[in-house]
Amino acid sequence: MTSSHRDPIRIGVLLSETGVTAPIECSQQRATRFATEEINEAGGIDGREIELVLCDPASRPSRYAELLTGMIANERIRVVVGCYMSSTRKAVLPVLERHNALLLYPTLYEGFECSRNVFYTGAAPNQNSFPLAAYMLRHHGKRVFMIGSDYIYPYEANRVMSDLVFESGGEKAGEIYLPLNADYEAYQDAMKKIVAAAPDFIFSTVVGIGMAHLYRAYAEARLDPARCPIATLSTTETEFTAMGADIGEGHITSAPYFQSVDTPVNRDVLARFQRRFGDDVVTDMCWEAAYFQMHLLAEAMRRTGGAEPDALLRALPGLEFDAPQGRVRIDERNHHTYLRPRIGRLNARAQFDILSESPDWVRPDPFVIAFDDDRRAPALEVRAGVRE
Ligand code: ACM
Repeated sequence: MTSSHRDPIRIGVLLSETGVTAPIECSQQRATRFATEEINEAGGIDGREIELVLCDPASRPSRYAELLTGMIANERIRVVVGCYMSSTRKAVLPVLERHNALLLYPTLYEGFECSRNVFYTGAAPNQNSFPLAAYMLRHHGKRVFMIGSDYIYPYEANRVMSDLVFESGGEKAGEIYLPLNADYEAYQDAMKKIVAAAPDFIFSTVVGIGMAHLYRAYAEARLDPARCPIATLSTTETEFTAMGADIGEGHITSAPYFQSVDTPVNRDVLARFQRRFGDDVVTDMCWEAAYFQMHLLAEAMRRTGGAEPDALLRALPGLEFDAPQGRVRIDERNHHTYLRPRIGRLNARAQFDILSESPDWVRPDPFVIAFDDDRRAPALEVRAGVRE
């Protein structure tokens, strides 16, 4: 089959519409579709439309690998966007590398990976864990209880967080992992252990449907977020809106983007997004990464004339884009993204009050190897007018 220069350019989308992480992956899928509509309305890639090929891997790592294999073999697609859980990204890595295909991955993750065939547009540990540890240790204390889902990202993110806590003379009050499909009772039991351990804060790496159970069990245990909040890298406006702001209010998230970010670009993009998808639709850090990475990909395709992985591998490094969070840039050496760390506290409208933010973008350091001054948490500016 030959493709003409007028045919659409087909891009695969590996994001789940069902399963434990469906809500956040649907948010990433909406952002991908929205950015693609914008690109096509503006003339596409030199007149050629981008056509998204959607599928539903059902939040199961092996399905991501099978569907990607099928896209490559049957549809000749070699550029894909998506994956949320690190277990799903790890499952597609061998397929990508075997076929020299490319993945743009719009999710915060644990770091310690650098595949030639992946561009990472979510936060690396030095862009979210470092500032979160600095904030929590300073404002809440040094005893942390860790609770996570039972897969690679929570184990690795907790390893990084443990190092940061221990380096500051802090201690771990406990560590629990629950299956991705654990029920509410499992979270109630975990919360009893947390209450008994009396930490200064809880670090959660729970993902998916378990998030609502965790915050509900916390509320039921009548803990006080002003004294011992749940701090996380992953719970967003999307999950808090679904579970109810009354349950999430006062808890802390570290991310490069919140819907409440007050930049002209964010205001414009939000207005267009809500006109297209409805006033009630919310955005979040994973939505934003999915949105801006499509625009970066489109620019790289314009420069190279299509979706040829080797050409894109040369064009994407060093590209910049005015994203809703501020200007972002793909690092030339490690394929991760310069991002702007922020700390937010959920308010009664299921939006984040931004407590502090980096005045500039922060270079991604996925292997946490900068042992000099860069090793410190990026300096965040405290936002005026927010209750500290
Ligand atoms: C994740 O698994 N990277 C959230």
